[in-house]
Amino acid sequence: MLNGIEGLRADCMQCKKCGLCETRNHVVFGVGHPQAKVMLVGEGPGEHEDLEGEPFVGRGGQLLDKLLAAVDLDRRTNIYITNIVKCRPPKNRDPLPEEQEACINWLRAQFAILRPKIIVCLGRVAAMRMIKPDIKITKEHGLFIEKNGVVMMPTLHPAALLRNPSQKPAAFEDFLKLREKIDELGCDVAKLP
Ligand code: URA
Repeated sequence: MLNGIEGLRADCMQCKKCGLCETRNHVVFGVGHPQAKVMLVGEGPGEHEDLEGEPFVGRGGQLLDKLLAAVDLDRRTNIYITNIVKCRPPKNRDPLPEEQEACINWLRAQFAILRPKIIVCLGRVAAMRMIKPDIKITKEHGLFIEKNGVVMMPTLHPAALLRNPSQKPAAFEDFLKLREKIDELGCDVAKLP
């Protein structure tokens, strides 16, 4: 029998807790190192993610991978990536509050298994849900906020960077700060002895 994060994935694959299960091709559960202490949380799968079953694999995902690589982070080696909702909202609309509510226990369970020390919220929807409902991402990105013993940082969503490339240097600064925080807290699994 599977347990841990893979057991949870198997359960999540069957989920029918909201209407998004009617239109999905794949549940997009998450990807990453099973001992990662850094978790990145996006909004929800888009078209490519829905087709492939993995978060952030479209153009935004490629940009995210480049930002991660620049600070020695990699989705299979030392971090974990998931989303607030695990199934694609039609036409990439924002996930509805009731869809987020129906899905949030999967994220809570991922959190309970992985016990991340740092959570990066990718974009407004994740930051509103995880940090505070009135967050102003354009002003507050790159700032660390401690909540219940977990350090959280909002940053700009990769899709926003594709729409507005002039914001890329600011996002890069956020990832440099993230690397500093990871080193300060000693939570890069790939660097443990
Ligand atoms: N946007 C997100 O927020 N998550 C994904 O997985 C892909 C695009």
